[in-house]
Amino acid sequence: MIITVDGPAAAGKGTLSSRLAKKYNLAYFDTGMVYRAVGLQLLKGNIDLTDAVAAEKMAHELTFTKMMKLSQDKDFRSAAGGNAASVVSSYPGVRSQLLDMQRNFAKNPVFADGTPAQGVIYDGRDTGTVICPQADIKFFITASSEVRAKRRYDEFVAKGMAADYKQVLADVVARDERDANRKDAPMKPAEDAFIIDTSDMTIEQVYNCAVEIIESKYK
Ligand code: C5P
Repeated sequence: MIITVDGPAAAGKGTLSSRLAKKYNLAYFDTGMVYRAVGLQLLKGNIDLTDAVAAEKMAHELTFTKMMKLSQDKDFRSAAGGNAASVVSSYPGVRSQLLDMQRNFAKNPVFADGTPAQGVIYDGRDTGTVICPQADIKFFITASSEVRAKRRYDEFVAKGMAADYKQVLADVVARDERDANRKDAPMKPAEDAFIIDTSDMTIEQVYNCAVEIIESKYK
């Protein structure tokens, strides 16, 4: 079984995906990690984020193992790391270099400890449209920019990271604008996606809604 969860930044894709992965015993690929890995390497190497050629080279050299190692870095999930990821993900050359790595995961999905899995859940804004259009079930999870900014802000606070709500909101809006018209990673639901607007829903309600959709499809 392949499930994709697309949608804008901080809509709740990660929370839903990891819960569904657990329930259905699926490997989980958080595709934002590939861009975070490239962006972080630029940050660490003091390379300007506008250097698309350097970013493409990093993307070309990225392996799954390297990405998992980089994900242990304290800046991987920071606001700066997210911003770097967002910038490098706007380079078509970076996206195309990272396509195979993401697509190949569905052929041989593995859990975090390396054991093989029977299926995969992909989390990322273009997973149902570009990475895995053949997925069995596609979700598009969205919410208002204010709600998404509040959630991301709460995440930073919960992790003990410095955060300013207004800045987080400005970042969310800037990312949405950057993402709005990308041909290679459209911020739009696949035609056959189930759209869930989570603005007024709790995590539990979103999860139950997704489970209901999956179970009704496989009844
Ligand atoms: O989901 P996460 O915040 O880790 O993603 C980091 C950035 O990577 C996003 O802001 C987005 O710009 C980019 N991204 C993307 N396509 C994906 C996943 C993430 O462009 N499939």
